[in-house]
Amino acid sequence: MEGKIITIVGGGSTYTPGVVKAILLKKDTFPVKEIRAYDIDEQRQNDVAIIVREVVKATCPECNFFTTTDPETAFKNSDFIFAQIRVGKYAMREKDEKISLKHGAVGQETCGCGGLAYGLRTIYPMVEILDMVEKYANPKHWILNYSNPAAIVALALKKLRPNARIINICDMPVAIINGMADILHCASKDIAVNYFGLNHFGWFTDIWVNGDNRFNELKEHVLEHGYLCDVPDEQHWEPSWVHTYGNMKYVMNRFPEYLPNTYLQYYLLSQDIVDDSNPEYTRANEVMDGREKTLFNAINNYKETKVYDDKMFVVGAHGTFIVELAESLCSEKGGRYLLIVKNEGAVANLPDDAMVEIPCYVSLRGVEKTSVGHIPTFHKGLLEQQYASEKCLVEGAIENSYLKVLEAFTLNKTIKSSTQAKAILDEMIEANKEYWPPLK
Ligand code: NAD
Ligand code: G6P
Ligand code: MN
Repeated sequence: MEGKIITIVGGGSTYTPGVVKAILLKKDTFPVKEIRAYDIDEQRQNDVAIIVREVVKATCPECNFFTTTDPETAFKNSDFIFAQIRVGKYAMREKDEKISLKHGAVGQETCGCGGLAYGLRTIYPMVEILDMVEKYANPKHWILNYSNPAAIVALALKKLRPNARIINICDMPVAIINGMADILHCASKDIAVNYFGLNHFGWFTDIWVNGDNRFNELKEHVLEHGYLCDVPDEQHWEPSWVHTYGNMKYVMNRFPEYLPNTYLQYYLLSQDIVDDSNPEYTRANEVMDGREKTLFNAINNYKETKVYDDKMFVVGAHGTFIVELAESLCSEKGGRYLLIVKNEGAVANLPDDAMVEIPCYVSLRGVEKTSVGHIPTFHKGLLEQQYASEKCLVEGAIENSYLKVLEAFTLNKTIKSSTQAKAILDEMIEANKEYWPPLK
């Protein structure tokens, strides 16, 4: 295979060093001749690049790497575009979380009003990126998008740019599966799952290890311990994530049919989550004091000493998954992954235009969905409500409609009443003046 060109959008992301390492660790089966980092924050991206250059030097010095803020330079003939932007950065994430919590509602990056606010910020910057990629990249390019809130981004982009060559992805199920491998004492590559839902809102319905169904055995573990296992997840190990993994025990005991995605805690245990949160110190603060500070300490340390510590970032499920997916898109045999795709009958009793997260086969032929069939009324009801909330938000963004966005906030399961929804929305409009489409 000829070496590919990959552009990382959001080159200044805390995940960039890990993603670059993941790409280059696969050099024998997935050769890459050039990696480009593109960002609108030149300073942040150049700082992160200090570490990235060391990763390239140590892993595959023959690969060319550069940073740019110019779209043509970034995307010209690019084969793969890995997108991981955070519009408004952690400062806006902190506002999303704290404004919601102040009004007694879940404040979370991608869930509840926090996720809706982040969605309104991200839709149009992502459209711009899709248009620039379409203009400059290899016509057979693939955009693999991690940018959150992936559920809303996927829904909006399908509506606004239906023919874009984009696959929206999430690393959470992969990280959970890695934990399952530890619990079941097997390799994660030997696990196959069935799953349905929207992004950050779904359930595992079956688990096999080399063809043996081990679902019930896993359920027993989750009923007792949640997703906590012996080997801590290298991406999700901080106290709030340990709490989340543990919470799965409570969700599972109440609804023991399927194994939940961790993000379901925000909908099924909303009040407990609010009660357990510190409105003065949210996950955004923990990330700024953790993942971001650790990486930037390494960068600053390198500036002084010219020594870099590769333990200051991780490859994790995040890096591994996106690179395996890209490799599968170049191979005849390919692989099976959970992806966020247009439903079109895959889940028989959910709307055709919902963007569902389900198992898909991926190869040189692109994405081939599996058929999920009918889902139970409880799950369907929850998903329909979440989908309606996300759909109203997307329509609100497109139509500049205050009413549609208020409907989105009101419909969200984390919200108690339209009074609460309106109070949060009105404060968020103020906070997001620079970022949101105008709402009338
Ligand atoms: P970060 O703030 O460290 O990095 C994001 C970068 O995006 C910043 O450097 C910022 O300048 C840049 N950016 C913002 N708007 C841009 C634009 N229009 N064009 C180009 N660059 C732009 O954030 P992070 O914590 O590293 O996360 C990055 C993104 O990846 C977030 O959206 C996060 O939610 C997402 N993520 C998703 C998954 C998933 O499962 N889908 C997993 C992990 C992270
Ligand atoms: C999981 C999710 C992502 C989320 C990430 C980081 O992996 O799938 O969508 O962005 O966690 O969350 P954090 O709170 O650590 O920034
Ligand atoms: Mn995710």
